[in-house]
Amino acid sequence: MMTKSNLSQTFKKTFDTTDTPRTFFAPGRINLIGEHTDYNGGHVLPASISFGTYALGQKRSDQKLRFYSMNFPNMGVIECDLSNLDYTKEDGWANYPKGMLLYLQKSGYEFSYGADILFYGNIPNSAGLSSSASIEMATGVLLEGLFDLKIDRVHMVQLGQKVENEYIGVNSGIMDQFAIGMGKKDHAILLNCQTLNYEYAPLELKGYVIQIINTNKQRTLAGSKYNERRQQCDQAIIDLQTKLSITSLGDLTKAEFDQHKHLIKDVTNQKRAKHAVYENARTLEALEKLRESDLKGFGKCMNESHLSLKQDYEVTGMELDTIVQAAWDQEGVLGARMTGAGFGGCAIAIVDKDKIEDFKKNVNAIYYKAIGYDATFYTATIGDGAKEVTEGVLK
Ligand code: GLA
Repeated sequence: MMTKSNLSQTFKKTFDTTDTPRTFFAPGRINLIGEHTDYNGGHVLPASISFGTYALGQKRSDQKLRFYSMNFPNMGVIECDLSNLDYTKEDGWANYPKGMLLYLQKSGYEFSYGADILFYGNIPNSAGLSSSASIEMATGVLLEGLFDLKIDRVHMVQLGQKVENEYIGVNSGIMDQFAIGMGKKDHAILLNCQTLNYEYAPLELKGYVIQIINTNKQRTLAGSKYNERRQQCDQAIIDLQTKLSITSLGDLTKAEFDQHKHLIKDVTNQKRAKHAVYENARTLEALEKLRESDLKGFGKCMNESHLSLKQDYEVTGMELDTIVQAAWDQEGVLGARMTGAGFGGCAIAIVDKDKIEDFKKNVNAIYYKAIGYDATFYTATIGDGAKEVTEGVLK
């Protein structure tokens, strides 16, 4: 098991120091429902999980920055200077912390000294659990702590998204950074992505647990297809705006959409927009179910969400569809759906605690037979958002 002291020792060895660094953590996230709604001005219902990114750091007395990731040991220590934080392809993963520093500088935070920073992440790779937003937010809280800054948390979240969009070049919405920056133990967050108003909803699952199921299909095409979906929704809005005064698909009720959908010229774009509008309504409905402790109703919303992502948004694919169908067919399952961007990555299912072992065995057997390799199962623990770590044993 990894402990804070293991990480601390690696830090000291890597950076040749005897001083004990401070340790920070930013989680990954799952999204319970509200998929591909964030950049459409709708609602999402994510939660932060106990997998995440640890960041250990120490201030330096010069202007240098040194980064090391235990996940990319072959890349060694990556160095740069506070005065030049431009994106550099060769710096690979270190562009995430560099970007955070640059965007904090740009918004007026001053760093008079550099730092040594070590990262260790235990989020499964390319699983759609937001490892990139996690490293951004881990950097944010670390810098805030080391340099004694007061950074409004929602502002830090927005900077993380900016880094992703402008510096890294991935056109993602605000959900991941928000879930990771604002997460709360045993709670989901309902976020209105248009206004950034949010509320916490207790996740009281009684005898059930959330299973994360990794298809182990990496999301290779996700980037380009993701941007294509965004463009299709943007075009749908332009078409709708010929008659309606709306700014995003999140402004429409299902009835309003049905009444005006003919304005969207392209039939594919019509399907994409339908998903965005219906999924937004479904997310609010799911929250109601959760508040009424109607887990069955909540599960039904999850199932409908998956079908809509499969049929109308077309972001699931064989692996996710196989795993979700296999989950639906098991005893003790209240609901299952893909989570995150799609095209591979993870699904989630709400499963009766007592049926977990059978669930894993059966789902994996079906998956293996159809796809040819195993899925991986984790029980989700919903933890707090990004913060300094005080306990010694890490999760
Ligand atoms: C990715 C993006 C998010 C969101 C989801 C889909 O995780 O980073 O902003 O759009 O896909 O819901």
